[in-house]
Amino acid sequence: MSEMKSIAVVGGGQMGSGIAQLAAMHGCDAWLLDTDPSALTRANKSITHSIQRLVSKGQLTQAVGKDALGRLRYTSNLQELSSADVIIEAIVESEDVKKKLFIELDKITKSSAILASNTSSISITRLASATSRPKQVIGMHFMNPPPIMKLVEIVRGADTSDETFNATKALAERFGKTVICSRDYAGFVVNRILMPMINEAFFTLYTGVATKEDIDVGMKLGTNHPMGPLELADFIGLDVCLSIMKVLHAGLGDSKYAPCPLLVQYVDAGRLGRKRGIGVYDYC
Ligand code: CAA
Ligand code: NAD
Repeated sequence: MSEMKSIAVVGGGQMGSGIAQLAAMHGCDAWLLDTDPSALTRANKSITHSIQRLVSKGQLTQAVGKDALGRLRYTSNLQELSSADVIIEAIVESEDVKKKLFIELDKITKSSAILASNTSSISITRLASATSRPKQVIGMHFMNPPPIMKLVEIVRGADTSDETFNATKALAERFGKTVICSRDYAGFVVNRILMPMINEAFFTLYTGVATKEDIDVGMKLGTNHPMGPLELADFIGLDVCLSIMKVLHAGLGDSKYAPCPLLVQYVDAGRLGRKRGIGVYDYC
């Protein structure tokens, strides 16, 4: 498979915008698509800000930063992605919504294109089965924030070919990432371990064991995590955390994965974390 030069990212939220930024910073022509035009405006702002931060710290030259911004194209029209070599899906963590998108992508992209998903937990095999090209469907799971975090978790579906795996791994490495591989089970490796810890932090708060501040300080200073688990949940998005817990619970069939009622209630109340200005903490 030839080197992938043209990358399209679908979903311009916190993950999609960071992945498109990475692609542009590493010399790819990058498309960023979102059905919501205001998400594209926010993405453009956050990418510009992130590139300025990297330039001001000397981690990126002014020229590469400028070049990267020039390589980015924003759109809401799926047809514009038809010539991309790889499409990285980063929309809402819902199997139904992702499957509908994969069906559309399968129709409009060139037959050689790889369809990758940044899903946190959903079966790659099932997403692949919605397409006519399961050999070219793969999980490419970036960590938040994508420009900073050093890991990409690659997940092969039941039919993913070696060619697709090798090309995806080469792309992640070109982005400067270390790759780990996971088999296609709910939550893969990172979220299989991380999300039950975050859920347990919610139970610790829910049952009144400690305040949110003490839970976070405890885990930050007690285990050297950069963020406490509740602060991290706000950073990830409580809706994303809840969706992942539901996939773990349904897919692994153990009551230990049942989402904490407090997490459910916060999401019901629209307290989705930093992106909404309120979650476990108030950011307004
Ligand atoms: N673009 C560019 N630079 C950025 C950035 C961005 N989007 N975000 C942070 N930075 C840079 C800052 O400029 C700063 O650089 P210096 O240290 O060189 O000055 C550095 O990163 C640290 O940033 P801050 O000082 O603003 O804040 P911080 O020290 O709290 O670091 C953080 C921010 C890197 C996010 C850090 O808190 C951290 O590592 N948190 C944990 C993140 C994590 O665990 N992510 C994984 C979540 S799980 C996941 O992603 C999988 C899933 O499916 C849910
Ligand atoms: P987000 O809510 O910040 O952004 C999702 C974006 O997708 C929104 O802008 C929305 O308008 C757009 N969208 C929804 N349906 C669409 C469609 N059909 N077509 C085009 N755009 C559509 O979400 P996020 O946090 O960026 O997460 C995106 C994906 O990445 C999810 O699968 C999530 O599980 C995964 N992920 C999230 C994190 C994290 O820390 N938040 C980390 C790794 C992976």
